[in-house]
Amino acid sequence: MTDIARRQNDLRKMLIAAKVVPVLTIERVSDAVPLARALVAGGVRTLEITLRTAAAIEAAKAVMAEVPDAIVGIGTVLSAADFAQAEKLGARFTVSPGATPALLETAAKSDMPLLPGVASASDIMQARDHGFDTLKFFPAEQAGGRAMLRAWAGPFPDLRVCPTGGITEANAAEWLSEPSVLAVGGSWICQASYIKAADWAGITAMCVRTMKSLSPG
Ligand code: 3PG
Repeated sequence: MTDIARRQNDLRKMLIAAKVVPVLTIERVSDAVPLARALVAGGVRTLEITLRTAAAIEAAKAVMAEVPDAIVGIGTVLSAADFAQAEKLGARFTVSPGATPALLETAAKSDMPLLPGVASASDIMQARDHGFDTLKFFPAEQAGGRAMLRAWAGPFPDLRVCPTGGITEANAAEWLSEPSVLAVGGSWICQASYIKAADWAGITAMCVRTMKSLSPG
């Protein structure tokens, strides 16, 4: 197995274990640790902290230092420079909304896994050319939904994805039941209104409910 195949395999295992990956947009560094603790308390340990706010890097550092049970990844990685920043932080994985050759080339040489975003057959082919077959389907609902995923299974039987974009409490279980879906991601599990209100118990309750709905039996 090549290094990249091994890293992609590790990422698959991480996503299967996670089932759900919250996409976190943290505006205030002081929210980061209580938010991460609330998610972990609800059984959601694998967290994507997006580089969408000025607070993101300090927030990720705080969670890594103070919430040892959280598995912290960095999302909204748009460039090789963002990837290098996440690597320096010691993130466990990275996520990007799309996949440029520059980003894929950088990530292919690193020990830190990348989950690159795809929304078309050409995107998937480009990612595969660089050794990536574990991908983020983004924006999943808007780009064609589960019907699109099933159509991809013909030419790309080995494709495995984490869909994000339009995943909700109502459709998460349907998405997760697709054979090519390893985990589902999104912001519904950590809504901005809850974070703003510091409603940590509400976030834990949402996680518990979601994990229960995604567990067979
Ligand atoms: C992402 O970057 O994955 C999306 O912003 C998450 O989409 P959602 O807000 O529709 O869950």
